[in-house]
Formats: sequence, structure tokens, C-alpha cells
Amino acid sequence: MAGSAFDRTPEQDALIEGWTPPGVDVSRAHSARMYDYYLGGKTNFPADRAAAEKVLAAFPSLRTGAQENRAFLLRLVRHLAGLGITQFLDIGTGIPIEGRNTHDAAQDVAPHSRVVYVDNDPIVLAHARALLTGHPSGATAYIDADVHNPESILDHPALESTLDLSRPVAVLLLAVLHFVPDEHKPTEILTRLTDRLPSGSYLGLSHVTGDFDPVSWERIVDTYRQSGIPGQARSREEFAALVPAGWEILDPGVEIISQWQPDNPDAELPDPALVSAYGLLARKL
Ligand SMILES: C[S@@+](CC[C@H](N)C(=O)[O-])C[C@H]1O[C@@H](n2cnc3c(N)ncnc32)[C@H](O)[C@@H]1O
Repeated sequence: MAGSAFDRTPEQDALIEGWTPPGVDVSRAHSARMYDYYLGGKTNFPADRAAAEKVLAAFPSLRTGAQENRAFLLRLVRHLAGLGITQFLDIGTGIPIEGRNTHDAAQDVAPHSRVVYVDNDPIVLAHARALLTGHPSGATAYIDADVHNPESILDHPALESTLDLSRPVAVLLLAVLHFVPDEHKPTEILTRLTDRLPSGSYLGLSHVTGDFDPVSWERIVDTYRQSGIPGQARSREEFAALVPAGWEILDPGVEIISQWQPDNPDAELPDPALVSAYGLLARKL
């Protein structure tokens, strides 16, 4: 039944489009809804669209980056499922996208896969509750929490009842850590998040970079900050340095996300400057 909950009628779509979940501040732009807008989703509001259009004006190819990021997420999850991983902790989930979520990819390979989603955006929560169902032989859960407080995730009853932390878990933070600036100590956050996991666990990350187009990325980061969303692009070295001690980065290393184990290595891949995001997979020693 993975994916079947996404089969909405046009009437349901219209309702969702015009619907503002209670308690959700739609007057300010939010990164999840801006990302949804880049991906062509419908869960975004005028403030999100205005901020996203400003960013797209500075960097029209940002849509390519968003699409490539989602494709990287799905390749990474299928790769991990192929390695026998059946437990996933997906932090900074984003708004669900029909058939293109972590549990869809994992349960395609292993239907009994178990996925815990975490995000701090109330609108993601509102949609996740209704949509993140998954295969009956597996399990999905959703935790409304902030990555800055790893213990609120690890000690959450939904995590305890869904994942067995004595067995390897794949922790995914895709396109999230650029919202955690250096002053918030992202490596310390990752250490606290993964300390309790056994050896053989995995850490999958992706992150925007200004390495290929520094001028545009300075403007993009500024535009996000002006919309009240702190963030920072990181260089290849800065990104690799986020990985805590005790983890090894696996082949192919830190790579442009579109070039990380592409489905079809013969297909023409987008210019790295259009993608401007790195990805990596690390394994706990
Ligand atoms: C660009 S989206 C990425 C979605 C998905 N991981 C992907 O790669 O397609 C970033 C997500 O991270 C979430 N996020 C940002 N800061 C966060 C935080 N401090 N704690 C939890 N989630 C956060 C946002 O709400 C948003 O849903």
C-alpha cells in the first residue's frame, strides 16, 4: 500500500491548496514550503512563493538542485536497503511528495522497512499525519521535533516503538544541515544524534555549496536570511568536516549529488554549478 494514500482526487487537492492548518504561520516564508514550491508541489503560501521567486530570480536553476536532491535521497535509500538496512531515521523530512518519500523507496526494496520521520515545520506535521502510512508489514512514524535538540528525537516514544537502536539505523539529513549554521555546532548535534547507534549504522547527508558559483550562493543565503531563515552554504571540506569522529565516509566520497552513484552513468548529468549540492554516505566504525 506504499504510495496509495497519495492518490488524491482533484477535489481533495483543491481543499489542501486552500487550506491553512491551525497554528501554522503562513505570513512568513518557510524552507519546507519553499522547497515544495521548487519541486512543483502545492503546499505553499504567498509568502513562501514570494521568497522562493526571489531566490529563483538570483539562481533560476535552484529547481534543478531540488529535483536532483530528491533523486539523490531516493537512490541513497535504495542503496541502503540493498545493503540490508531496514531502519531509517529521516530528519528534515520535508512535505511528503507522492510516491517519492523515504518509506516508498525503502519499502520497494524491503516492505518491512521501518522509517521515523522528523521535521520541525507544523505544515509538514499536518501533512505527514495524513500521508505517511506505508506498507502494512513495515512501519512509519512521525516526530515533530527540532534537530537542534537530538534528545527530543531519540527519547521520543514514537522512535522507541518504531526503531530498535541495538541494530543498525540509517540516519538521513538531506538538505537540512545548511539550516544549521556553525554557531549552532552541527557536528556536535550529529554526534549527539548518533552516539547511541551501533557500529554498522549509516549517516547520509546532502548540503548546498557555493564552490561552483560563489556569487549566486552568497545572494541566495542572504535572501533566505532576509526571509528569516538562517543558513549557510559549505565548501566540500566544510561539509566533509561535519561528519563526527568514528565515522568513515564511504566510496565515492563527497560527491556532487547528481554524480553520486547515478542510476545511468552514461546519461548526461547536469552541470555541477546547476546542482550546487554535495552528498555523502558514512558508516559508523
Ligand atoms: C529542503 S527540505 C529537505 C527535504 C528532504 N529531506 C529532501 O531532501 O528532499 C529541508 C527540511 O528540513 C526541515 N528543517 C529545517 N530546519 C530544521 C530543524 N532545525 N529541525 C528539523 N527540521 C528542520 C525543513 O522544515 C524542511 O522540511
